[in-house]
Amino acid sequence: MDRFEKRAMALALSLVLMFFGLVVYAAKGLQADLPTCLPYKREIQRGNFTEVGPKRYQVDAVAFMWSFDMGQGNTVTVPRGAVVDFYVTSRDVMHGYHIDKTLANLMAIPGAVTYARVKFDKAGEYQILCHEYCGLGHQNMVGRIIVE
Ligand code: CUA
Repeated sequence: MDRFEKRAMALALSLVLMFFGLVVYAAKGLQADLPTCLPYKREIQRGNFTEVGPKRYQVDAVAFMWSFDMGQGNTVTVPRGAVVDFYVTSRDVMHGYHIDKTLANLMAIPGAVTYARVKFDKAGEYQILCHEYCGLGHQNMVGRIIVE
């Protein structure tokens, strides 16, 4: 091995060690969670809509061919200013769970629960769209959030 190869190897190894050290520092020193799509050790058997406080709600959403069960069918109604925690899973295949006009863009995965918190500041109707091709009825798979 010539000296340039040795330098390149030493540089690569030191970068790997530095990145590993930074990941450990972020996890331990900064209490930063490592990114994952499976952060919740929850099981959801059926859809559920719960008021958990003043203008605070929790939606357990179960996707299936070809609709969403959110405890009140595929539509939930909340007041303007509501903060809603969405926990999403699937009972058959992979679906998508994109809430129109928000940044919530989740996967609905059998055996796993994904999560997003959304604050609804504007009144109106928000469509929930399945954005993952899931079969013949995919294009009809929509839900609604009505903000009054
Ligand atoms: Cu469900 Cu596409």
